[in-house]
Amino acid sequence: MNELDSLIEQARASFAKAQTPADLENAKALYLGKSGRITELMKGMAALSVEEKKRLGAAVNVAKQAIEAALNAQRQALADAELALQLKAEALDVSLPGRALSQGGLHPVSLTLERIEEIFGSMGFEVAQGPEIETDWFNFTALNTPQDHPARSMHDTFYVEGGHLLRTHTSPMQIRHAVQHVKRHRASLDAGLGMPEIRVIAPGRTYRVDSDATHSPMFHQCEGLWIGQNVSFKDLKVVFTDFCRSFFESEDLVLRFRPSFFPFTEPSAEIDIQFQTGPLAGRWLEVAGAGQVHPNVVRNMGLDPEHSIGFAFGMGPDRLTMLRYGVNDLRLFFDGDIRFLSQFQ
Ligand code: DAH
Repeated sequence: MNELDSLIEQARASFAKAQTPADLENAKALYLGKSGRITELMKGMAALSVEEKKRLGAAVNVAKQAIEAALNAQRQALADAELALQLKAEALDVSLPGRALSQGGLHPVSLTLERIEEIFGSMGFEVAQGPEIETDWFNFTALNTPQDHPARSMHDTFYVEGGHLLRTHTSPMQIRHAVQHVKRHRASLDAGLGMPEIRVIAPGRTYRVDSDATHSPMFHQCEGLWIGQNVSFKDLKVVFTDFCRSFFESEDLVLRFRPSFFPFTEPSAEIDIQFQTGPLAGRWLEVAGAGQVHPNVVRNMGLDPEHSIGFAFGMGPDRLTMLRYGVNDLRLFFDGDIRFLSQFQ
């Protein structure tokens, strides 16, 4: 091996040893720097003959190019290694699932109310809303429940200033809505043309002094009212049976109308349902109170009970929600625990 070849080998070896760009530039100086080996060789040629200059010059040039090539290759290798390290350090795991914004959703009782409105809507019922702070008149007296009536004791509630109270049921909406309806059709009534039937549901919050696994001081009710010229208990049975079967998506659901008492209906019934399949099969479950609207109540609506009759019902959407989803503690609905509530989305 001649001297130049071994110089190239030395250069390659020392470049290969360089672990950092600084090491490499130091190694480069030994060969290609101002007083590096190649530079020295070139300087030394000044004294040679033209012939020898040509021959040796060409050879030194070849060696110089080989060393420069080795230098560039090592520069590239170090840069590649550094980039690889940096990429590794800053690596992103793109397979990790993102942190999505949660969508939120409706409360299970709201889902039930929507469902109730949809089913009764399909039967021609409008939806009415009324105040949660009521007067004694609408909550009791107009509903045939005077001051001294014993039925009031079952409706112990929260009284606020001025004789107002938190409504104990949605039944006051029977009166409020009917009075509005009559007012809207006053001219037609006065002309002896009658008025369209009253067909309405009134869902909303209600309040009583009551609290255990199946009672909450705040709960929901949905009132129903259908008043026309000849609306009977038979219509109540058809409408409510259809509703329950649609609501629970169960065609073989059985209903029982059990005689009961409410001051604002006569006759009155409590409505029980019975599933034929599933975990609750065979048990009678109370879902509503109902009856033919009492003549005194019809009068308080501004109507003549000789001509306007019909039925009313009041049901518990919280209870319906518990039955539909198989929840046995009502308080879960109102604790606001997202882990519970998000299961209904
Ligand atoms: N308001 C009654 C209650 O809260 C339920 C009820 C019974 C409503 C009979 C009605 C009805 O409309 O006709 O206990």
